[in-house]
Amino acid sequence: MKIIMLGAPGAGKGTQAKMIADKYDVPHISTGDIFRANIKNGTELGVEAKKYMDQGMLVPDELTVKILLDRVSQPDCTKGYVLDGFPRTIPQAEVLEKALNEINDHIDYAIDVNVPDENIVRRMSGRRACLSCGATFHIVHVPPKTEGICDRCGKELILRDDDKPETVEKRLAVYHEQTQPLIEFYSAKGILRTVDGTVDMMDVFEEITKILGEMA
Ligand code: AP5
Ligand code: MG
Repeated sequence: MKIIMLGAPGAGKGTQAKMIADKYDVPHISTGDIFRANIKNGTELGVEAKKYMDQGMLVPDELTVKILLDRVSQPDCTKGYVLDGFPRTIPQAEVLEKALNEINDHIDYAIDVNVPDENIVRRMSGRRACLSCGATFHIVHVPPKTEGICDRCGKELILRDDDKPETVEKRLAVYHEQTQPLIEFYSAKGILRTVDGTVDMMDVFEEITKILGEMA
């Protein structure tokens, strides 16, 4: 099973991708998480990516594509994967398609988690993220058992640098300009599925499992 999660920043791609990965036992691959891990570890890639991320801009395609293609060629990806935050531009989608074609493979579904912009800024200010294991919480919707501490790995939870309201506005603008065209791209290929991302996250997940059900 090879799935792409589409949706605006904060639509719930990561939340849903983790649940899909657990249920269907495939790796959850988030380019954002990979960049944040590199920033935390002070790698060259992290230093470069941070310049763009802190401004709400996209990391250049050359960097992002290389990292993603390396990751999906790892042995744990032979059974499939959920991509969260990739592709984010038409050129990224084309590179992925070409790489899959070369091994006679394809993406099964691109799932668009649809949430209007008004809901997004509110959600982001309440998000708390774990930089160690990638888990995501929300101070109202998904509070951790102990404030500021990750339920999954016990490390500290943070407000992401790019979740400040002015940066969120910029990320939304970049999304509409560069990423939203992917909806048409995958729709034209007949693999786009849209779910309402404004309802409770378990109901969003139920919609997604209805789509993926036959692939279990
Ligand atoms: P990335 O980490 O991918 O961020 P994003 O797309 O902006 O998305 P988020 O992670 O902010 O949101 P999400 O949709 O995962 O929502 P979540 O589940 O956390 O990318 C960050 C940056 O890295 C980019 O800006 C860019 O610079 C760079 N980058 C990454 N990939 C790149 C690429 N391919 N090319 C170029 N640059 C790239 O949910 C949000 C909050 O809402 C949480 O608190 C959650 O608990 C809550 N929530 C979730 N679902 C619900 C619900 N149904 N109801 C109520 N609350 C909910
Ligand atoms: Mg995410």
